[in-house]
Amino acid sequence: MSCTIIVGGFFGDEGKGKIVAHIAFKDKPVIISRGGVGPNAGHTVQVGDQEYSVRMVPSGFVYKDAKLCIGSGVLVDPRVLKYEVDKLGVKGRVFVDKRCGIITEDHIARDKGSDHLSKKIGSTGSGCGPANADRVMRVSPQAKDIPELAEYLMDVPKAIDEELKKDNIVLLEGTQGFGISLYYGTYPFVTSKDTSASQIAADNGVGPTKIDDVVVVFKAYPTRVGEGPFSTEMSFAASDAMGIKEFGTVTHRKRRVGGWDGDMARYSAMINGCTLAAITGIDRVDKACFGITEYSKLTKKARDFLKIAEEDIGCPIALISTGPEVSQIIDIRNELA
Ligand code: IMP
Ligand code: MG
Repeated sequence: MSCTIIVGGFFGDEGKGKIVAHIAFKDKPVIISRGGVGPNAGHTVQVGDQEYSVRMVPSGFVYKDAKLCIGSGVLVDPRVLKYEVDKLGVKGRVFVDKRCGIITEDHIARDKGSDHLSKKIGSTGSGCGPANADRVMRVSPQAKDIPELAEYLMDVPKAIDEELKKDNIVLLEGTQGFGISLYYGTYPFVTSKDTSASQIAADNGVGPTKIDDVVVVFKAYPTRVGEGPFSTEMSFAASDAMGIKEFGTVTHRKRRVGGWDGDMARYSAMINGCTLAAITGIDRVDKACFGITEYSKLTKKARDFLKIAEEDIGCPIALISTGPEVSQIIDIRNELA
C-alpha cells in the first residue's frame, strides 16, 4: 500500500481533513498532495485543543514530516496560500505544481457578482467557477507566471512518482464531495469540476494503475451548503433538536442536514472505486460513542447503523470517527487486511 486517495462521498464537509490527518499520523506519508477544485474547499482539523481550518494547504499539514503539495489540477489563490503558509508556519514544506490554474481578483468579482453563480447555484464566491472557465478558454495564468509563487514551484507528478518508486507512502487528498461533482453530482447545483477519485488522481498527475487504495469518507448525517437537491434533507428544527448545527468553513453559511442516504452512498462508492470506507459523526448516531477508540466499545445502536451503512456502501468501513479531535477515531484497517 503506497498511494492512497481520500475523497468525500456525499456533498463535501464529510470530515476528510480529520481522516487525512489521522492516516498521516499513522501511516507516515512522505508527500501529502491536494487535488480538488481550489480555495472553495474548507477543511477543519483539530489536534488537542487547537483547531485549524485550511483552504489551500493540504489538511495533512498537522503531520510535520510530510511535504505538502498542490497538484496541477487545483486552482491556487496566491493570497489565500500566502496567508495560510504564514499563519500555519509551513514555509519550506509547501509546493505548488507549476501548472496550477490561478485565481485573480477578477475571478472573485465575477463569482460574487454573478447572480447565476452566487445566488442560483450558491457558490462560495471564491472565484473558482470563473477561474476554471478561463482555464478551459485557455486565457488563465498558471502558477509559473506568478512571481510570488516562484519559491513554491515544483513538478508535483514527478516528485510523487519518485517517492512511489522508493516504496514510500503518498496521500492524495480530495476536496468537496461526490454530490457536487460537475460530472456526477446534482447538475447544475455543483462545483466547477469533477470531484471523484479519478479526478483527484488526474489532478496530481498520478495514473490510475499507481493507486492502491481509495478511501471514501461518508458522514452519518450528511450535510450540504449552497443550493440544490438533497433527498434526505431534514428541517432545521429536526437537526437543531438533534444537536446538529454546522456552519461552512469558507462562507459561514448554515449547513443543511440530512439523514443517511444509502442509495447515494452505493453510487458514490461505485464511481469512486472505493476500497475502504470511513464514517464520520458516529457520535451523532449514538452520543455514547463520543471519543471511543476501540470497536468493541461501540454501542449496539452504532453497530447496527454501521452494518446497514456497510451493506449500502458495498465495501468495508475501516475508519470510524467518534469526535472532531484527530485521535477520536477507530481504525480497523489492519484487522481487515
Ligand atoms: P463553487 O465551487 O464555489 O462554485 O460552489 C458551487 C457549489 O459547490 C455551492 O453549492 C458550494 O456551496 C459547493 N461547494 C464548493 N466547495 C465546497 C466544499 O468544499 N464543501 C462543500 N460545498 C462546497
Ligand atoms: Mg469543508
